[in-house]
Amino acid sequence: MERELEREIGRRRTFAIVSHPDAGKTTLTEKFLLYGGALHLAGSVTARKNQRATTSDWMELEKQRGISISSTVLQFDYRDFRINLLDTPGHKDFSEDTYRVLTAVDAAVMVIDAGKGIESQTRKLFEVCRQRGVPIFTFMNKLDRPSRDPLELLDELEHVLGIGAYPVNWPLGEGTEFKGVWDRMTAQAYMFERTPGGTFRAPVATMGLDDPVIREALRPDVYRNVCDAVEMLDGAGEGFDREAVLAGKTTPVYFGSALNNFGVQLLLDGFLDFSGPPTSRQSRDGHLVQPSHPSFSGFVFKIQANMDPNHRDRIAFVRVVSGKFARDMRAQHVRTGKTIRLAGATKLFGRERETVDEAYPGDVVGIVGKDGFAIGDTITEDTSIIFDEIPRFAPECFATIENPTPSEYKRFSKGLEQLLQEGVIQRYELDDTVTKTTLLGAVGPLQFEIVKYRLESEYGAASRVTPALWTLVRWLAADVDTARMTIPVGVRLGTDDHGGRVLLFKDEWGLRYFREKNADVALRESPGYYH
Ligand code: G4P
Repeated sequence: MERELEREIGRRRTFAIVSHPDAGKTTLTEKFLLYGGALHLAGSVTARKNQRATTSDWMELEKQRGISISSTVLQFDYRDFRINLLDTPGHKDFSEDTYRVLTAVDAAVMVIDAGKGIESQTRKLFEVCRQRGVPIFTFMNKLDRPSRDPLELLDELEHVLGIGAYPVNWPLGEGTEFKGVWDRMTAQAYMFERTPGGTFRAPVATMGLDDPVIREALRPDVYRNVCDAVEMLDGAGEGFDREAVLAGKTTPVYFGSALNNFGVQLLLDGFLDFSGPPTSRQSRDGHLVQPSHPSFSGFVFKIQANMDPNHRDRIAFVRVVSGKFARDMRAQHVRTGKTIRLAGATKLFGRERETVDEAYPGDVVGIVGKDGFAIGDTITEDTSIIFDEIPRFAPECFATIENPTPSEYKRFSKGLEQLLQEGVIQRYELDDTVTKTTLLGAVGPLQFEIVKYRLESEYGAASRVTPALWTLVRWLAADVDTARMTIPVGVRLGTDDHGGRVLLFKDEWGLRYFREKNADVALRESPGYYH
């Protein structure tokens, strides 16, 4: 039993792909799934993407959400590994969920469009990964298109993100001159053949970069550039440091083209070789819970309500941290102190739900029909464990919400409470208003549409949601004397749902001005943790 647990933990890899929209996350995901032989899943990823491209009438929203449920976790086997790839919603559906998913992974693959370099969403998502110190692997994508100088791209990783970059391979040209990659670890070339559907020629055993195979494939000026760059990198003498990778200090960099399925296998193999199995997590009392701890424990990082009227239920996604999960087992829901039977555990494959009989650290199980579950909750057999894993993230969009129909007030407020518990949105009360003003905050504006739609369709309550002009929120220390602050026009004081005092700003300029006027007031960017 113990040995089985160790073995299963050792072969688990749980990660997410972070990227800016259109960098190639969907395409890369699909190719990964092909290596895992999960062809049927690859189709569902594309389906989701197609649906996403259309939207935004309500039926579409519903469909879109339905599909995003099914692709929350993709599990596949490759080599001896069992891989859990967690989806990070990134287009219109960018939300706090995107960040929260990153609290449940052990590593991330960052996809960058080599023609563009680091873009805003990548930077934000990277920051969440960095805070947790998870290993990050970089894929420079779209080398078949005009790309920026690879040295410049590496430089950007180091300067903009502040992470060491170690190119595991190096592109042999770019755009129409892209001919393959040079693997620095094995001193072999992988040549790219431009055929419909893309092909990948087996590695070519070479004597070095001056091998005629490479020299003859490249235009002389491109060849010279490649040799100079590789010589410079090798000359710098920095060896590959796996410890630095595992500590999230250095990112191994791979070049390729997801669309052409070129360089993807090198990335996947490198990722599996250099990343690690699930690691320990800290319990609130400070002790580390090892994955091999014999008792099952896990935490809820995402709650998804199904909008399909035929399956109107909620799924709480639990990341297993330790021990073995077995269907129908009993465990404690720590926040309420209740012992519950974990029936209804499902794995979501494509559009199908499949019952899970067992799961191990690194896996994610979806528990259906437990309405009392909230984001951040710990579920465990060992009641000394409480995870503090899930941070809350500062919203960037705000809207006021009102119930225009007093007779529906009860339903309206019940629905809103439920959506808050699911972490769909955050709530704030503004100070100094004659009538109580409820302000909602979200990371992405789609959340407001979802709130309005779900209140109506699930709770039968109409709501009026009006966009508000704030874009920034900062938290104040509990003991700050707000009466002594100078509050410029346009800045508002309020309170979050956990009693935290907040200031709302229209823009960066307003924030800077406030700071100038109140140099001694400390402001926090993050609201802290759930519970
Ligand atoms: P995302 O999930 O990160 O948003 O990106 P996605 O994979 O959907 O890719 C965005 C666009 O970039 C797609 O084109 C995709 O085909 C293209 N793409 C991805 N990888 C590569 C690559 O290696 N080379 C080239 N040249 N293009 C790539 P699209 O026209 O928006 O969609 P589609 O009609 O091709 O599906």
